[in-house]
Amino acid sequence: MCGIVGYVGKRRAAPVLIDGLYELEYRGYDSVGIALSDGKRLKIIKKTGRVQEIEPAREERGNVGIGHTRWATHGGVTERNAHPHAFKNIVLVHNGIIENAAFLKEECLERGETFSSETDSEVIAHLIANVYRGDLLKAVAEGTKRLVGSYALAVMCIEEPDTVVCARMRSPLIAGKGKDGLVVASDVPAAAEEGATLFALSDGEFAKLKGEDLFFYDASLHEISKEPIEFDPVDDVPDLKGYRHYMRKEIDEIPKVLSLSQAKISRNSCFSDFYEVLCQTKYIQIVACGTAYHSGLCAKEAIERICRVPADVYVASEYRYGDPLIPDGTLVIAISQSGETADTLAAVRLAKERGAYIAAVTNVTYSSLTRLADTVLYTKAGREIAVAATKSFNAQLMTLYSIVSALAATLGKEAPSVGGLSAMAESAVITAESVRSWTPHFAGAKSAYFIGRGADRYAAMEGSLKLKEISYLPSEGYAAGELKHGTLALIEKGTPVVAVITRREIADKTMSAIHEVYARGATVFLVTCFPELCKTPEVTASAVIPECPPEYSPILSVIPLQMLAYYTSVARGNNPDKPRNLAKSVTVE
Ligand code: M6R
Repeated sequence: MCGIVGYVGKRRAAPVLIDGLYELEYRGYDSVGIALSDGKRLKIIKKTGRVQEIEPAREERGNVGIGHTRWATHGGVTERNAHPHAFKNIVLVHNGIIENAAFLKEECLERGETFSSETDSEVIAHLIANVYRGDLLKAVAEGTKRLVGSYALAVMCIEEPDTVVCARMRSPLIAGKGKDGLVVASDVPAAAEEGATLFALSDGEFAKLKGEDLFFYDASLHEISKEPIEFDPVDDVPDLKGYRHYMRKEIDEIPKVLSLSQAKISRNSCFSDFYEVLCQTKYIQIVACGTAYHSGLCAKEAIERICRVPADVYVASEYRYGDPLIPDGTLVIAISQSGETADTLAAVRLAKERGAYIAAVTNVTYSSLTRLADTVLYTKAGREIAVAATKSFNAQLMTLYSIVSALAATLGKEAPSVGGLSAMAESAVITAESVRSWTPHFAGAKSAYFIGRGADRYAAMEGSLKLKEISYLPSEGYAAGELKHGTLALIEKGTPVVAVITRREIADKTMSAIHEVYARGATVFLVTCFPELCKTPEVTASAVIPECPPEYSPILSVIPLQMLAYYTSVARGNNPDKPRNLAKSVTVE
């Protein structure tokens, strides 16, 4: 993944780069580095760890520079593997993965060239340096021709100290002009400053930041003009507002984002055209990853129950290699908070090639997914800083349930109203705070289980993912009825099991699973909308959420599970906002 940034301007580059890198830390935070040019010499500073490690470099001289925050793919988390990477006169930062790096490196080694890192990125510096003949732009275009994979690059050259050249292939890149300089970055917040004009590069395009001028080029190096993108740098400034962690703050924001997302979709001008597409829809395929995949599962449940239209949900990384069948009348819905998840984008490209109509559900207006999709339905979760998705999941559900309502209308069916969910979420957030008292049972546990049936199972899967990713506790989200076919063997004295029950007709069935795990020593917790179930002697503690239409219940039942993950993570001494090994935006396959 990684985040890259670059600056050419009148100010000292180091503070601009470091501030930009803080914005990009959500893309990875294994190591960090910058390269600075003061017109005479090019200096590289890099460290393992987070951006704060290079704070002392703020004072360094130079008005031109590039920077990088890393999420390790090729090569361990070491200073040598940190970017920028240099070869001869070329210095660069890279976001992406070069799939033929081993082959290209072998060629370089045969020529007697040496490498100082284990990264795939260093080979790009070799390719560019080897074809450099006094024009950095041409060398970047020539050198990148041989790359297979994904890249966003910012490249400097000792002989051209006032220039940064950038290239994009399947990794996001924004370039723009600010008040007193030119910027390039992996995303808008890292590039934005008041009054800046920003442009998004497309695959195969190049940008040159030179002196006071910003140029864009197509793959044949013909200069092109680009439309600026719309962004609002002021509204979305990260601010903990007194909270200890962003994740906790973002859970509290759920009621607000539900009402904003609902209002957004009712005003969405695309929606009337999309309605025509829904009228033709006979089958739905949903592609997504991680938490977004879970919101897809919840949507499938609602689509099939309410609309009686068949729907399948695919993990995007499997879909793209699965040779999917896309019959006429298939609508593909891609769900992605960031709109930059490489696996989801690859699945969308494949579905498009096979003629599918693509609807994107995303939170980021200028993302790559928005450019691939035929219709974009924006969630209004606002900026989500914590790596673990919380409010964006709930916002996705609100948008997806609104699609379900529209689809139902095309079929002359009536879907339950989504109105009222935001108010119910407010009460769920208040109740959910009480799960803090459950954490001693989880913080010291070896593993934990989350069980449910139907939509409750999908909420359970999401609750389990949250717990795993921020508390590092092995955990499974499981179909309650499936436990006895194997997983029950893992239950021992004190194993915490969380059951989710929100559908009355199947409450007894999940209660049976509770009895089964309790009989094997489990400590049972319950999330339900039926207060009478909390009196069951086998239940150690429970959280009662408001009763909503059961097809929509994950939007509420997940809230105590998000809270449980948060407090368990804190109790285990972790930083829930920045879990180890993970990054917010997964832009590699
Ligand atoms: O940006 P996306 O929604 O496409 O991201 C998908 C997953 O990487 C993401 O949901 C991930 O699973 C979260 N860390 C979960 O909390």
